[in-house]
Amino acid sequence: MSDGKLGVLIHGAGWVSGEHIKAFNNNPHTEVVAISSRRLESCRQRAAEAGLENVAFYTDLDKALVHEGVDIVSVCTPQHLHAENVIAAAQAGKHIVIEKAIANTLEELTAMRDAVNQAKVKTVVSFVLRWNPLFETAKELIADDALGDIYFTEADYEHDIGSWWTGYEEGRQKKYGVSAMLVGGCHAVDAARWFAEKGRNEAAIPTEVFAYSGGCRKGREVEYDYFTNTWRKAPPLEYDDLEVLLVKYDNGAMSKVSVNFGCVMPYAFPIEIFGTKGTIRDNHLWSHKFPGQKDWITIPTVLPESADVTHHPFQRQMDHFVECILNDRESHCNLADAALSQEITFAALRCYETKQPVQLPMT
Ligand SMILES: NC(=O)c1ccc[n+]([C@@H]2O[C@H](COP(=O)([O-])OP(=O)(O)OC[C@H]3O[C@@H](n4cnc5c(N)ncnc54)[C@H](OP(=O)(O)O)[C@@H]3O)[C@@H](O)[C@H]2O)c1
Repeated sequence: MSDGKLGVLIHGAGWVSGEHIKAFNNNPHTEVVAISSRRLESCRQRAAEAGLENVAFYTDLDKALVHEGVDIVSVCTPQHLHAENVIAAAQAGKHIVIEKAIANTLEELTAMRDAVNQAKVKTVVSFVLRWNPLFETAKELIADDALGDIYFTEADYEHDIGSWWTGYEEGRQKKYGVSAMLVGGCHAVDAARWFAEKGRNEAAIPTEVFAYSGGCRKGREVEYDYFTNTWRKAPPLEYDDLEVLLVKYDNGAMSKVSVNFGCVMPYAFPIEIFGTKGTIRDNHLWSHKFPGQKDWITIPTVLPESADVTHHPFQRQMDHFVECILNDRESHCNLADAALSQEITFAALRCYETKQPVQLPMT
């Protein structure tokens, strides 16, 4: 604690970290006290953008972790570094925000869970769409029985992710990004799980996964830029750009999830939620709660229609996490829960090798 506030260390001073800094700056109970990254210049840049003056900079995480007054660490490095960063933060006794993808392998995921359990620190994973206003509205409606029992959900991450993204050079490589589902599609996996369970703060428990992968973009040295509607030369993806997953849950519900990095169109994140008494398609509702309904009800809200981090509800996510820490309760999107979404992406990878359905949990 510094000045009665929870002190925050931001680790990995890139694109998404700017939004973490803003959110913690705006929360009355937190203060960003340190930023660490590979290069000091990035730390300085993020601090200047946010107008932070009283903040320390580090290029060594171990040194940053012992900076006085650090209570929370936001891990904003590329995904292949999350496991070692989160384990170090947990061992230092810090509460942790973990960016997606949580980890690159099942072994890393297990080691992270063990470290967090042992240290008894609080975590929240940045499946940030759980705080998107449409997601929150849909989840309230589901909990209020507007759809009855949920039996099928669909979510698709349709985004021709490309070299405009600061993380693309590593993210496109199999060694660092692993798969399209890990790099971007995990948001859709988590959404499908989240909507497949009726409880307001619960996601469905996955029991089986089957998946195919393919597409059109792997190895292609040309990319489409939907901001300018032009094609240009770019380093290729080293993994399949299209994955389609079927997921079964222990409550009997099922999901179909896809990630599509080959699509030639602006970013989209369509959702469909089918219940025994109603349906939600994006922000359109059909429900037994409206007898005699003649047309879809359109909910005027914020849709998950942009990949820009400034559009994502990081403020709501961080406010929620701070409340969890202050009230000593676990987040509904803590590592233990979010790991179940991540495990689905690993099950898909196993499925491409074995061509067989994969039972969960895998460990
Ligand atoms: N939840 C969401 O919706 C969302 C949105 C965007 C990104 N993300 C996730 O957030 C993470 C970061 O993505 P990004 O878009 O912010 O990428 P980015 O702009 O490339 O930022 C990554 C930062 O990590 C730093 N870094 C790299 N290697 C490092 C090392 N060995 N030690 C310390 N720092 C290192 C880089 O440092 P330097 O600048 O110092 O060289 C860079 O500033 C990824 O896991 C990504 O998937 C999540």
